[in-house]
Amino acid sequence: MDWIPKQPPEHILGKESQNPRRIFVDLGSGSYPAVFDGNRKLEEDDYYVGVEQKRTEIDRALSTDTAKNSANLDKLGGNVFFLEHNMNLSKLPFADSSVNEVVMGNILGNDNIILHTFKIFLNEANRILKEDGVLVVFDTVTPGQARYLSNPYGSDNAMLELLEKSGFEVVKEVKYGDSDFETELSKYKQSHVRLKKGNEFIMYFRKK
Ligand SMILES: C[S@@+](CC[C@H](N)C(=O)[O-])C[C@H]1O[C@@H](n2cnc3c(N)ncnc32)[C@H](O)[C@@H]1O
Repeated sequence: MDWIPKQPPEHILGKESQNPRRIFVDLGSGSYPAVFDGNRKLEEDDYYVGVEQKRTEIDRALSTDTAKNSANLDKLGGNVFFLEHNMNLSKLPFADSSVNEVVMGNILGNDNIILHTFKIFLNEANRILKEDGVLVVFDTVTPGQARYLSNPYGSDNAMLELLEKSGFEVVKEVKYGDSDFETELSKYKQSHVRLKKGNEFIMYFRKK
């Protein structure tokens, strides 16, 4: 796995004055990152950065059949980067307002992650996204839990309230059962489309 840089190059991090590239950041990319599991094809000026605290997850992500069969890795592998980074320890190395899209898949329903960390993920997403950038939040593992942020005594609306407090507003919500559910979800997570739990969702937000 030596070809994965520890840090994506400067032109990906948005520090150059001219940055014509489109940057797509996957926070907590895990072993099935959106760039491999999703069916969205990268274009030549699209760059993907998976951010993951565990080196073992990054290594696993690259060794799955999903990765090996990925058209993105095959055709535009040079546009795919992974950053080993713990969101709790430091800020992301991206410039403010430099990223087109941030994805958080199966993060907000994860009861191994505490509220303090959810806030860091969302604050960083808000900081690095361009003014017209998009935040994509989906949950296919514990979608019910995501809505109340794993706090059974909390509000069913806790996730949306936190997103709003973090500076986001909803653009679109697509739920299991909606006619465009599979099309939308499979851009990021094809494997879970087949599992069909029944209350999965994918939501799009923009900065307020
Ligand atoms: C449930 S997995 C989701 C993986 C993937 N996004 C998906 O949809 O399948 C959550 C991932 O977030 C990562 N994670 C949790 N806390 C983190 C942190 N503080 N910084 C970076 N990554 C973190 C975990 O290591 C794990 O791989």
